[in-house]
Amino acid sequence: MRIDIVTIFPEFFSVLDLSLLGRARQSGLIEVATHDLRDHTHDRHRTVDDTPYGGGAGMVMKPEPWGEALDEIVGDGASEALLVVPSPAGEPFTQAIARELAAEKHLVFACGRYEGIDQRVVDHYGERMRVRLVSLGDYVLNGGEVAVMAMIEAAGRLVPGVVGNPESLVEESHEDGLLEYPSYTKPASWRGLDVPSVLLSGNHGAIAAWRHEQQVERTRRVRPELLEG
Ligand code: ADE
Repeated sequence: MRIDIVTIFPEFFSVLDLSLLGRARQSGLIEVATHDLRDHTHDRHRTVDDTPYGGGAGMVMKPEPWGEALDEIVGDGASEALLVVPSPAGEPFTQAIARELAAEKHLVFACGRYEGIDQRVVDHYGERMRVRLVSLGDYVLNGGEVAVMAMIEAAGRLVPGVVGNPESLVEESHEDGLLEYPSYTKPASWRGLDVPSVLLSGNHGAIAAWRHEQQVERTRRVRPELLEG
């Protein structure tokens, strides 16, 4: 998978050198390139924003640097890539969307700052390629960078080969629509708290049933809306 990220803070993504995704990059499973939006400005101040037409607070990102940056990445015609624009006005990011992103060959992320990107950028690229506005959640971040990091981490670990043991992807929160069951390791007793005895029983049927019960109980308590579907 190829990932291109356009941002005014390319250094922000240096954490992608670490951990699982760092290894995936080293092994060539995931190829990531960051692009500084300001490299596509042509004034002394490297201006990427301006005041909004119609008035109002805040600044809007100008379309021209975005057009230059994105054309350089996707070419100037139609593209097979998927352009993902993080925005609090987008569809909520879920494990299902993470799976869809993980199946793409080429993802391009456009990190907006300020009050967002001039709408014509989304409209223009929407005619040349697939574009998705995606929100990390119902709160406002200062920009798209943190949201993109979350999306890359969630999708990247679903790319085949990135997580060493694929079975560990099956039994986790949200994969079956439920929250995951609580986990325990040694020692069997710690600070007066014992591991539930069923987990020490060796009875695989009983363990599976207990885990499922825990998932349902946890989901009902914390996220009842997940059980409605
Ligand atoms: N940019 C600002 N807030 C955001 C959010 N909640 N999700 C995605 N991108 C954002």
